Amino acid sequence: MRYTFSLGIYISTIVQAITASPIQWNTQRLDVTDDYVKTSGQTFTLNGNTFTVVGANTYWVGLSGLGVDDMNLAFVDIKNAGATTARTWGFNEVTNTEEGIPYYQSWSDGVPTINYGPTGLENFDKVVAAAKANGIRLIVALTNNWSDYGGMDTYVSQLTGSPNHDYFYTDASVISAFKNYVQAFVERYVNETTILGWELANEPRCKGSTGVTSGTCSTTTITNWASQMSAFIKSIDTNHLVAIGDEGFYNRPGNPSYPYQGSEGIDFDANLAIDTIDFGTFHLYPVGWGQTANPTGWGVQWIQDHFTSQSQQNKPVIMEEFGVTESQVSTYQAWYSAVLDSGLTGDLIWQAGSHLSTGDSWDDGYTIYPDDPVYPLEQEHAAAMKAKNE
Ligand SMILES: *[C@@H]1O[C@H](CO)[C@@H](O)[C@H](O)[C@H]1NC(C)=O
Ligand SMILES: *[C@@H]1O[C@H](CO)[C@@H](O)[C@H](O)[C@H]1NC(C)=O
Repeated sequence: MRYTFSLGIYISTIVQAITASPIQWNTQRLDVTDDYVKTSGQTFTLNGNTFTVVGANTYWVGLSGLGVDDMNLAFVDIKNAGATTARTWGFNEVTNTEEGIPYYQSWSDGVPTINYGPTGLENFDKVVAAAKANGIRLIVALTNNWSDYGGMDTYVSQLTGSPNHDYFYTDASVISAFKNYVQAFVERYVNETTILGWELANEPRCKGSTGVTSGTCSTTTITNWASQMSAFIKSIDTNHLVAIGDEGFYNRPGNPSYPYQGSEGIDFDANLAIDTIDFGTFHLYPVGWGQTANPTGWGVQWIQDHFTSQSQQNKPVIMEEFGVTESQVSTYQAWYSAVLDSGLTGDLIWQAGSHLSTGDSWDDGYTIYPDDPVYPLEQEHAAAMKAKNE
């Protein structure tokens, strides 16, 4: 519990962290008490007890130029939804800086410069401190498939001049630059227990925003890259878990449903089998993926199929992003039930929202503010997930 005692700012925060905490006041601890989240079979553990991974995404908390009070409010809203865990972005690659928007690496003529200052990694220090003050563990993605916040295409275009998105996974100069960034980021937080784990990228795919590839990218390309990069992180950080951050697509050519066909370059089962990948991740956006006939039912099957993979590999799997923009309450009820009934390890909704002093956080159609009808559903689900793990 030391992280909840070290804050001393908000009394109600502390009281809630204690009463809602997944950590047990356990006098006979079974295992090492090092305060890092680990895995054991299909569960996450903390100091020998099961740690329930449930919560929300908040990519924006470190990338909107927020002050510490608003960062704290963002995590208070997440915690009060019952969350133990939040997922956020540990990257912003820029070629032009934007006033007031933090960035962690800037690029000029193919040369990257890591920003260690107040608008850079010192800003991420504040994100970590705000999460810690609220007893929330962080899953941090280290780059993006999408061109939002720079991502993979910035590396590729700056270093190779090519629009081929998949060079991110194979070009030696790109791999070396990405490793350099990852090393600076990961080493800074190597002893920080608030970090639950690192993710190689948000939603890696063969095709990125440019839509262009070399024509040779396949699931093997990304599996090889994930092996190499996850082993690299393990070589510099033995404290934290590592995952990919992908959407969990299957590689079953001939399957009638696109997310099962392997066409985006992801083979969920092959990736989960990698030794240096500690847990599996998948996303669920049936409407965005063209599964419009029965998005709710399609999602239930997607959850059950990922639970099957989880049990085959005997590693935790989390549905780390999911969303619909219509019929949210009934759809999320069905999906939350499917998570509980199947035995899937955990889930994080896309996405948390807050009414900040600067105005509302960005609403992309999926955002759940504390006064949204989905918010009490999140609370109920988090309580049920914790109760199951007791
Ligand atoms: C992390 O802890 C190790 C072992 O105690 C120490 O050698 C290292 O300097 C620490 N790193 C940071 C960034 O605090
Ligand atoms: C990556 O970005 C582009 C759009 O900008 C999109 O075509 C592609 O599907 C994206 N992949 C993922 C996984 O989001």
